[in-house]
Amino acid sequence: MKNKICVITGASNGIGKEIARQLATKGARIAMVCRNEQRGQIAKKEIEEISGSNKIDLFLADLSSLIQIRQLTENLGKAYGHIDVLINNAGNFFLKKQYNEAGIEMTYAVNFLAPFYLTNLLLVKLMNADQGRIIIVSSRNQSIGKIDLGNYDFRNRIYNGLQAYSNSKLMTVIFTKELEKRLRGTNVTINAAHPGDVVTNIGMNDNNGLFKILWSIKCLFNIPVEQGAETPVYLATAPELTKISGGYFVRKKKARYNPIADLPGIGKELWDFSEDIIKQNNLSINQ
Ligand SMILES: NC(=O)c1ccc[n+]([C@@H]2O[C@H](COP(=O)([O-])OP(=O)(O)OC[C@H]3O[C@@H](n4cnc5c(N)ncnc54)[C@H](OP(=O)(O)O)[C@@H]3O)[C@@H](O)[C@H]2O)c1
Repeated sequence: MKNKICVITGASNGIGKEIARQLATKGARIAMVCRNEQRGQIAKKEIEEISGSNKIDLFLADLSSLIQIRQLTENLGKAYGHIDVLINNAGNFFLKKQYNEAGIEMTYAVNFLAPFYLTNLLLVKLMNADQGRIIIVSSRNQSIGKIDLGNYDFRNRIYNGLQAYSNSKLMTVIFTKELEKRLRGTNVTINAAHPGDVVTNIGMNDNNGLFKILWSIKCLFNIPVEQGAETPVYLATAPELTKISGGYFVRKKKARYNPIADLPGIGKELWDFSEDIIKQNNLSINQ
């Protein structure tokens, strides 16, 4: 991985920070994407100290904002001629229904639309690499996800945070399958991963006290971040995976996923739907 350029979203905390540390230790140049400058700087310093690397760059973007994603890709584009690895790791769990400034429901915005948009905008840079790899940190919750695009944002029904989260993670698997088809014949692969149930702060963000207590109890049984980062790092680095694409991996092995992801036309439907939302915001998935 020496000098390979790896872009990692959500690198200020949890699994993303650990992925960044492991890849930095392997000699990669790391582009940490963080939404908060202070948290980003603290994480960057920590990774530099532990890994001994001086090849860590910090980029700022709130990935719930399409405008900030576009600005981020412009900044990445100025910094690098190519990108070897893009790890879409940033994600969140919203117990209460929330919308971003463009009126897009936040679970969908952060967990699906952001990796969809960011990946599309960075495709040219990934194609400039010898072998570009896209990794999406999904979740085993994809298995209970449902797709109802007419009601994707729970505007006209009671919001259920767990269902919204699971739906968004199913979308990442559908996107992985669809983009794999569109990338055939190129040097770029895409795979999704469930990191395992990991001790992180994901259950502590924006949630109520009882939920935080339940998450803390669950974390007693969860695996540490070092283990949670293993499958995404494997997908980013393993030489035997240069031509493996469109997979959903758990513990470094291909695993079964929600059969909804294989329904005929579902990938195109989700793609067109999400592209339309981006167009409605006067933006384009093409560079
Ligand atoms: N933990 C688990 O058991 C588990 C299981 C399955 C899948 N996952 C997935 O693993 C990924 C990482 O989660 P984690 O458990 O490591 O959680 P975490 O510790 O809360 O880390 C999430 C990271 O994403 C960033 N992030 C959240 N919202 C963002 C936004 N709007 N813009 C930019 N960055 C944002 C956070 O930044 P801040 O530091 O600013 O908050 C943080 O760096 C997520 O996709 C999650 O769904 C986790």
